[in-house]
Amino acid sequence: MYPALQKELDTFVRRTPKSAEAHKKNLKRIPLGVASNYRAYDPYPIFVKEAQGSHFRDLDGNDYIDHNLCFGALMAGHCHPAVMKAVEKRLSTGTMFGMPHNMEWELAEEICNRFPVETVRFGSSGTEATMHAVRLARAATGRDKIVKFEGAYHGLHDSALVSVKPHAPEFGDVKNPEQVPAGLGVPKASVANVLVATFNDLATVERRFRENPGEIAAVILEPILMNVGLCLPQKGFLQGLREIATKNGALLIFDEVKTGAKLGWGGASEYFGVMPDMICLAKSIGGGFPLAAFGTHRSVMDLISQHKVFHGGTYNTNPVSMAAGLAVFREVLTRENYAHVDKLGRKLVEGYRKTVAKSGLQAYVAEAGANGALMFYPQEIRNYRDWTTIDIDLWRHYWFGMVNRGVMAQPYWWDEQWTISVQHTEADIEKHLTAFEDIAESLAAAQQERMAAMAAH
Ligand SMILES: Cc1ncc(COP(=O)(O)O)c(C=O)c1O
Repeated sequence: MYPALQKELDTFVRRTPKSAEAHKKNLKRIPLGVASNYRAYDPYPIFVKEAQGSHFRDLDGNDYIDHNLCFGALMAGHCHPAVMKAVEKRLSTGTMFGMPHNMEWELAEEICNRFPVETVRFGSSGTEATMHAVRLARAATGRDKIVKFEGAYHGLHDSALVSVKPHAPEFGDVKNPEQVPAGLGVPKASVANVLVATFNDLATVERRFRENPGEIAAVILEPILMNVGLCLPQKGFLQGLREIATKNGALLIFDEVKTGAKLGWGGASEYFGVMPDMICLAKSIGGGFPLAAFGTHRSVMDLISQHKVFHGGTYNTNPVSMAAGLAVFREVLTRENYAHVDKLGRKLVEGYRKTVAKSGLQAYVAEAGANGALMFYPQEIRNYRDWTTIDIDLWRHYWFGMVNRGVMAQPYWWDEQWTISVQHTEADIEKHLTAFEDIAESLAAAQQERMAAMAAH
């Protein structure tokens, strides 16, 4: 570990003793001391006391501008007043019915008006949404295989846990990526049904269809890969996928768990002008409550109506989450709020770019809607393999450095990105940029030393 990074880690440890103590207690009963593996990092994760608007406070009372926002699930920001008001009203009138109610058609209308789908079903998590979408696609086509992209994350079901973060030499040739289970416990039969292609490389997708004629039900993707930092589709890539899927009688599934709410008013299909057959929504549509949906053409969803495909769930359309979701669609994800977030996003990105140029740091800033990331690469990454070349210590230096200056610039892990919520302010962005300016020189110096040391070897 190099001295400037060690210094930031020492500062972090000095500032957060109560988090260290709490993590020790958690570790006794909870694996890794966290409730989701993504929340674990060294030396220990920050424990949160409370949050409001665009800020949160840790157990030691340190205040942070929050661009983690629950891994991007809070475009609304914390405790958005409209969401809180709707939820509080619901809390005293029943929190679960397991029976239909009026908010269901209301929220279904909101979703169908905004996204290119005719009907929807609801759930509580992104995992559920992509799981049911894949099952429906398999049922609609009578085929078992799907194509996913290397490095893409679609949740935790067996069809999603393939080639999420595969390592060399297991992952094979980039033109013909291997199917690598993302951990133990994923049945071989599931892995065999998940074919892997390379993002931004249509030839690898065509190859899968050529090798598996009449066997592929769907291509599932995040229109922007958001689990390798922020990796944008190159011109023509999404349209090319649309054409390949149509030509081969397969469905195109946009996993819009992140992009659906955060890219803009109409999600990825509006942003890129490419129409999928199915979309999966979760995270920010719930405004801080567990809410998900998957939507598609009536002809596909009829399989559920005809009792040919099964979909259920005790927590589906629970009134608390539905009230939150309605408030989100009507009062949070408005065109005015998108304009506000875009303006802040531009300011943040321009500020970062200026500081990167001034400091000589070899990095670029990627951006899309409410999201962005400082990408520690000499040129724009196109796929998962490009992403793996990052200097992890340098990224940790950035992240802990920002945290020590009161800015959680993004979730921990270099495969994530920042989110700007509708509650962030110009002052938040200015503070964020000041923190980055404060640390950029030290990052650039460390980077140059490390590159020189590597060149010398
Ligand atoms: C693109 C994408 N799809 C699906 C999921 C899974 O969502 P959840 O964690 O709500 O199950 C995630 C979560 O990070 C995601 O980013």
